[in-house]
Amino acid sequence: MIAILLGAPGSGKGTQAKVLQEDRGWLHLSTGDMLRAAIQNNTTLGQKAKSYMDKGELVPDAVVIGLIQEQVQSQKKVSRNVPGIILDGFPRTVEQANALKDLLGKLGQKVDKVLYFEINEDDVIRRLSGRRTCPGCGKIYHIESSPPKKEGVCDTCGGELKLRDDDRKEVIQKRLKVYDTQTSPLIEYYKKQKMLHSLDASSAPEKVNKAVQKILGI
Ligand code: AP5
Repeated sequence: MIAILLGAPGSGKGTQAKVLQEDRGWLHLSTGDMLRAAIQNNTTLGQKAKSYMDKGELVPDAVVIGLIQEQVQSQKKVSRNVPGIILDGFPRTVEQANALKDLLGKLGQKVDKVLYFEINEDDVIRRLSGRRTCPGCGKIYHIESSPPKKEGVCDTCGGELKLRDDDRKEVIQKRLKVYDTQTSPLIEYYKKQKMLHSLDASSAPEKVNKAVQKILGI
């Protein structure tokens, strides 16, 4: 099963993807995580991506499509042994969605379900401004709704928790605009293909998780 998690920044895609990975053994492919790893490793791709990400803009389609192609190829063996693959934050434009269809088609595969995380803008702003992430293991926290046991320290690996550079207020606004203009057309795109399954992403994480499991049939 290949499932796409689609939704605004901060709608909870990463949180749910990590639960599916940890509890169910799904393969989690996040273009945001891949790009942040490239930045951390100071690769040429990372240097290029950083200038877009810091401004809240999308990294050019060709770069991200190349990244996903590489991942899908290198994970080909692994993906046969997992119950499912979650694409988190990809595709984000219609061009990316078409490229994904072609790429999977060549491998005799297809996207099975698209889970659309519905949420309002006020909730998103509250979530992103309170989010803290662990650069070491990627665990996601929120200072109010899911704080670490010890302030500023990751429960899992002891790493120092950080506010993401693109979770500053002015960048959040820009990301929301970019989502509206460039990513939200995918809702109609997948609705037309009868793949879209909407869920209420504003409820508590456990409730969202139940909705995710129901849609995935697990
Ligand atoms: P990316 O990392 O993909 O960011 P995003 O899509 O903006 O999503 P977020 O990670 O911000 O939010 P999320 O939905 O995963 O929410 P989370 O679970 O963390 O992309 C970053 C940048 O990379 C982009 O802006 C772009 O520049 C570039 N990029 C990435 N992919 C690209 C692509 N395909 N094409 C081009 N450019 C690309 O939760 C948020 C907070 O809420 C956390 O604090 C969490 O604890 C809390 N929370 C989660 N669920 C709940 C809940 N149910 N109740 C209460 N709190 C909750």
